[in-house]
Amino acid sequence: MPLLDIQDLTVRFDTGEGTVHAVNGVTYSLEEGETLGVVGESGSGKSVHVLSLLGLIPRPPGRIAGGRALFRGRDLLAMSEPELRAIRGAEIGIIFQDPMTALNPVLRVSTQIVEALVCHRRMSRAAALRRAVELLDLVGIPEPHRRVTQYPHEFSGGMRQRVMIAIGIACEPKLLIADEPTTALDVTVQAQVLELMRDLKKRLGMAMIWITHDMGVVAGIADTVQVMYGGRIQERGPTRAVFHDTRSAYTWGLLRSLPDHGQAPEPDAEGRRPRLLQIGGQPPDLFQTPKGDPFAPRNPWATERCQQEVPPLVQAPGGAPGHMVAAWYDLRAAKEKAA
Ligand SMILES: Nc1ncnc2c1ncn2[C@@H]1O[C@H](COP(=O)(O)OP(=O)(O)OP(=O)(O)O)[C@@H](O)[C@H]1O
Ligand SMILES: [Mg+2]
Repeated sequence: MPLLDIQDLTVRFDTGEGTVHAVNGVTYSLEEGETLGVVGESGSGKSVHVLSLLGLIPRPPGRIAGGRALFRGRDLLAMSEPELRAIRGAEIGIIFQDPMTALNPVLRVSTQIVEALVCHRRMSRAAALRRAVELLDLVGIPEPHRRVTQYPHEFSGGMRQRVMIAIGIACEPKLLIADEPTTALDVTVQAQVLELMRDLKKRLGMAMIWITHDMGVVAGIADTVQVMYGGRIQERGPTRAVFHDTRSAYTWGLLRSLPDHGQAPEPDAEGRRPRLLQIGGQPPDLFQTPKGDPFAPRNPWATERCQQEVPPLVQAPGGAPGHMVAAWYDLRAAKEKAA
């Protein structure tokens, strides 16, 4: 049984201007210990899809219009708020982008970690405080004995991010969901946090869903990559396969827009590195149900069928097992023809 098994997740927002089709039939599963990197441009449904699993979308205007999401066999989408509260921060750890909004500014770091452990793990306060110090040490905060009694504003940006990670992993979750956790950090600190996460994953054996705009970060941390567009999965598969045997024109566009810094994926067989290029065109109109492939208007390889029918997500022909793509066009053939 997979750790998380999502079937046809569909999320809508009913707004004054119309219904936003934010997540449209997302289906995938995550194994124990697996790290999934989720990428896609702004508005592609990355955050909403995980927030809806955790019962964290505002309702209204949000609503779950369909689907199920079995976490260790139990449907998260059917759970009551108290049931979800017992899972959030305990079996599922959460790290968000902005530590200042996620941390409580008026509580000492020790209090925030101790509360989580006392509440979810039924630890004594003394044991929880010892554990809080260990956790700060584990995430690489120097002098954890002294630092644990400080308030969030007494930490630098990078150290605050580490505090959030410490809280996220305090209860040793089976699954850690991180939404752009390193975006606000400078490149050096970002690299340190990534190294820390790789290390923790090994030590704790937890699965992760890691949301980011940065394909370079994904290349460095993910076993599996999932590329989202217009609330749908366009391509998904083992990281190497998605980077080196790309089947979706949208993924291809994202890879070509990669800045050529140290974390970019290795060059391909011909020694080419993805170039710095923006994807032209407008993001999809989420107020409408698309008639065809939502990426078709921006896809130079789109065929007549792409304009007419939404492509299902299927195994990429001749691709690695589990390499899935939603495309009517054949990207490999099109690129070969152009070369
Ligand atoms: N509370 C809300 N009310 C109305 N629409 C919303 C609400 N929250 C999200 N949406 C819409 O849902 C869609 C998906 O948003 P989401 O936040 O998941 O994008 P994202 O991929 O995380 O983008 P980003 O990279 O900018 O974080 C967007 O069109 C967004 O405007
Ligand atoms: Mg987001």
